Amino acid sequence: MELHVADHPLIRHKVTVLRDKNTPSPTFRLLVDELVTLLSYEATRNVRVEQREVETPLTTTVGTQLAHPAPLIVPILRAGLGMLDGMTRVLPIAEVGFLGLMRDEQTLETITYANRLPERLDGRQVFILDPMLATGGSLVSAINYVLERGATDVTCVCLLAAPEGIEHVKQSVGERADVSVVVACVDEKLNEVGYIVPGLGDAGDRLYGLV
Ligand code: PRP
Ligand code: URA
Repeated sequence: MELHVADHPLIRHKVTVLRDKNTPSPTFRLLVDELVTLLSYEATRNVRVEQREVETPLTTTVGTQLAHPAPLIVPILRAGLGMLDGMTRVLPIAEVGFLGLMRDEQTLETITYANRLPERLDGRQVFILDPMLATGGSLVSAINYVLERGATDVTCVCLLAAPEGIEHVKQSVGERADVSVVVACVDEKLNEVGYIVPGLGDAGDRLYGLV
């Protein structure tokens, strides 16, 4: 598993506003969207492309287009949904699969309540979206679902990650596939109830309100 920390002053600025407990939901949603657009530059560095001829007003030349089969974007509900528009904006030909995962807040185990992924993902690049990589349980479940369906090239896009969660993903993935994780910031630690510190609180609640 490869980790990429997208260190950039604009990203650090926007993450700081996200962390602020006084930032209201409308601003929070807007910033998540903007951050994904910035992170997508790093996340799509190895997106598959092919050559195509293009006629300019002056001549014919060879250019580049996104290759087929189209990439699959998988937002992890709920909070990953806040990242979907930003990602489809830069990858408009991508298709979208959905995974509904939630943490049992007592045991921190991942519960799957929705799975709308294509049967097979052989040869397709997959982009998993989830703002928070805490214990890593949710991301490991999502990665396992797509690897079981034949994906071998997976990029996870997160905003904040805890070192404990990164290690968990690294150990779980092992040598099974090409998995990279792109994050805006690696935080200090998890607290005793599995929240990222300093973090930003509960991303789903801050985007969409209390369940
Ligand atoms: C949050 C977050 C991740 C998960 C991270 O989701 O969006 O999916 O927790 O924690 P983990 O790394 O320990 O698995 P949550 O379960 O709160 O659901 P929600 O998005 O519906 O609020
Ligand atoms: N999920 C969140 O939304 N925030 C955390 O800090 C940990 C898990």
